[in-house]
Amino acid sequence: MIETIVRPPTLEEMSSFYRVYQTGVPNVDSLTYDGFSRWWNRSKILGDLLALWRVAAVEDELVGVSISMVLDSYGWGAIWELVVDPEWRRKGIGTRLAQESEHALLERNPALTHFAMALKLQNPAAIPFAERLGYGIQSLVLRLDGPTEDKTFAKALDVKIPRLEDIPLIMHLTPDTYWGLRDYRMIEFSLRGGNCYLMTEPTNNLVVGFARYEHDHDYPDATVISFSYRQGYGQDVVDAALNGVKTQKAILWVQAKHEEILDHLYAKGFHRADAEFLARKRIKGLCQIFAD
Ligand SMILES: CC(C)(COP(=O)(O)OP(=O)(O)OC[C@H]1O[C@@H](n2cnc3c(N)ncnc32)[C@H](O)[C@@H]1OP(=O)(O)O)[C@@H](O)C(=O)NCCC(=O)NCCS
Repeated sequence: MIETIVRPPTLEEMSSFYRVYQTGVPNVDSLTYDGFSRWWNRSKILGDLLALWRVAAVEDELVGVSISMVLDSYGWGAIWELVVDPEWRRKGIGTRLAQESEHALLERNPALTHFAMALKLQNPAAIPFAERLGYGIQSLVLRLDGPTEDKTFAKALDVKIPRLEDIPLIMHLTPDTYWGLRDYRMIEFSLRGGNCYLMTEPTNNLVVGFARYEHDHDYPDATVISFSYRQGYGQDVVDAALNGVKTQKAILWVQAKHEEILDHLYAKGFHRADAEFLARKRIKGLCQIFAD
C-alpha cells in the first residue's frame, strides 16, 4: 500500500508544483511559468499558499496538487484547480486532495455555505469524479474570444468613470459570470484598481451597466472584459464595453443562461475558446464534516 501525504506545499516546491499542475492541461487553465509564479507569490503574501494550496506527496515526489479560494461574497469555497499526475490517477489521490481542500476552506471561513468546482467541458472524466464527491452540476460558463474592430452602437450609452457612491447601484446589476462582482468590498477593490467604467442611459441617467478591463500577461493582444448589466440592456452594455477596448481582441466569460448576450457575441464573430461546468455541493454542519 502506497502512503500518500496531503499537506501544504513548502516554499521550495514551486517548480515541482508547476510540473504536476501542467500535467492537468488542457483540463485546468493553461498558465505560463511566469503567470504561475506571480499567482504563487501573491498567495504566499496573502497567506493562501499555506492555508489553501495543497500537494499530495509519495515519499518526496509530488503526485497531485490543488489550489482553492474563498469567494466571500457568495459564501462559496472553490476548489479552483485540482490535478493528479496521470501516472498516479485512479488511486484515490484526487479524492484525498479534494477532501483536504474542503477542510482547509472551512477552516479559513467556517461560514461557507457551498463548495464549488469548475469542470472543463473537454474533460468528461472530471464529472463522475466530482459527482462521487457529492457535487452536482448547476451551470455552464463559456469563454468567448473575438474581434473588437466592429464598433457598432445598438443604442449609445453614456460611459463614465464610476465613483465610490455608485457602488450600491453596481451591486444591483446582474454579473456575466457566477464569480462576478456582487459585494461592496470587491467592487470597491476593483474601482480602486482602475480600468472600470459605468454605463448610463442618456435620457434618464439610469445606471444600466458596469465593465472592468483586465490585461492578462498570457494574452498580450487581448482585453479580458467582465461586466454587469441591468435586465434588458445586456447587448448595449457589451457593445459599449467592446467600443472602449484598445486591443484587437476581447475575451468574455458568459453564463450559458445569458442567451441573448451569447447570441449577440456569436453574431459579431466571437467563438467559444473554453467552457466549464460549475458543480456545487451544499455544506453540511461543520461538526458533521469534521466527523466524516
Ligand atoms: C479528475 C482527477 C483530479 C481525478 O483524480 P484521481 O486521483 O484519478 O481520482 P480518484 O482516484 O480519487 O477517483 C475517484 C473516483 O472518481 C471517478 N473517476 C476518476 N477518474 C475517472 C475517469 N477517468 N473516468 C471515470 N470516472 C473517474 C471514479 O468514480 C473514481 O473511483 P474509482 O477509481 O473507485 O472508480 C484527475 O483525473 C485529473 O487530474 N484530471 C485532470 C485535471 C482535472 O480534470 N481536474 C478536475 C477539475 S479542476
